[in-house]
Amino acid sequence: QKSNLAPTPPMGFMTWNYFGDNITEQDVKSIADAMLEEGLVELGYDYIFIDDGWQGGRDNKNNIIPDPEKFPSGIKALADYLHERGMKLGIYSDAAQLTCAGYTASLGFEEQDAKTFAEWEVDYLKYDYCFAPTDRETAEKRYIKMADALKATDRDIVFAVCEWGQREPWLWAEEAGGQLWRTTYDIRDKWKADAPEGADLHEESIGYGILDILEINAELDEYAGPGGWNDPDMLVVGLHGKSGPSKDQGGTGATNTEYQSQMSLWSLMAAPLMISNDVRNMDDATRAILTNKDILAIDQDPLGKQAKRVINENGWQVFVKPLADGTYAVGILNADEKKRRFKSKLSDLGIDGKYQLFDVWNKETHKKTNKLNFKVKSHETLVFKLTN
Ligand code: DGJ
Repeated sequence: QKSNLAPTPPMGFMTWNYFGDNITEQDVKSIADAMLEEGLVELGYDYIFIDDGWQGGRDNKNNIIPDPEKFPSGIKALADYLHERGMKLGIYSDAAQLTCAGYTASLGFEEQDAKTFAEWEVDYLKYDYCFAPTDRETAEKRYIKMADALKATDRDIVFAVCEWGQREPWLWAEEAGGQLWRTTYDIRDKWKADAPEGADLHEESIGYGILDILEINAELDEYAGPGGWNDPDMLVVGLHGKSGPSKDQGGTGATNTEYQSQMSLWSLMAAPLMISNDVRNMDDATRAILTNKDILAIDQDPLGKQAKRVINENGWQVFVKPLADGTYAVGILNADEKKRRFKSKLSDLGIDGKYQLFDVWNKETHKKTNKLNFKVKSHETLVFKLTN
């Protein structure tokens, strides 16, 4: 019996937003080296998740193989490279004949591919849903099929369900054998979709920003917990509109304040933290956002609760995340276009008593109080760790 595959939300680097399907073993190694050098691995970002584009078809025994030009040493060698450095490897397939980017996928080869992934000593599988029937029943069946195939191997492989929230996977993906499930379509590197009033964001052509993804994922708090996480897609922190599919659909970048908000909100929501910017060339602001230990501790808190959004009005969004030590983390997002002051009693957020407030970004401790009274910049999220 395998269990406890993801007691806290998985963290690492995912290749898709920056590299797209143009990913090679050299890229993966250089990213891994940079993650180690930057101290990201030590902070918990220990996975490299290879996304779509690694595949090179099947051999004459129908074994799935990597593209020999992109991965000349093979995936096992890459897994070894990462394992030797205390890191883990994620790989990608799709519950149909082809992946979204048109590469070989796993439908009809679930057992065989699961065995191959286990032999390669892969630690994680992201399983996409392009070119598959849209009904929930088929989706459940196809995800169960692959989850069972992974369970039948002798390796612990985390299973990430990626059907974009279209079939309410928060209701069935954990039962099906998944440890996380995407709740939305792909995130783009921007604050908000430039959508006309009343437009359906599920139209691929519009493209989701940080705020749009938040709107969906924030409502799903009751479904997240140790071993089964809502996945609101990758961090776009530090991408600055550079390279890869993330720049499509208006993903031309967000401000550092907005990136810091994403980091804050994703951590409050106990989201998997998947870095997607080029960590080999990081600016100081990006580094400061991704490496803040206090915000990472909130994301990785062992109680594993996703924050409840307790206020969502007049452009204020307030999040309360219960923590294992019996206290809380509180986040205040000002979604308005100007700097404003936020005032509230803690009791109005469902928190009784008085607490010291530690501001995790500004590293200031405010003396014991039962009130919040803070100026918040436009699109900023202040985060406080409460202490008795
Ligand atoms: C769609 C997924 O939602 C993305 O995260 C990425 O995996 C692409 N497919 C790859 O084709």
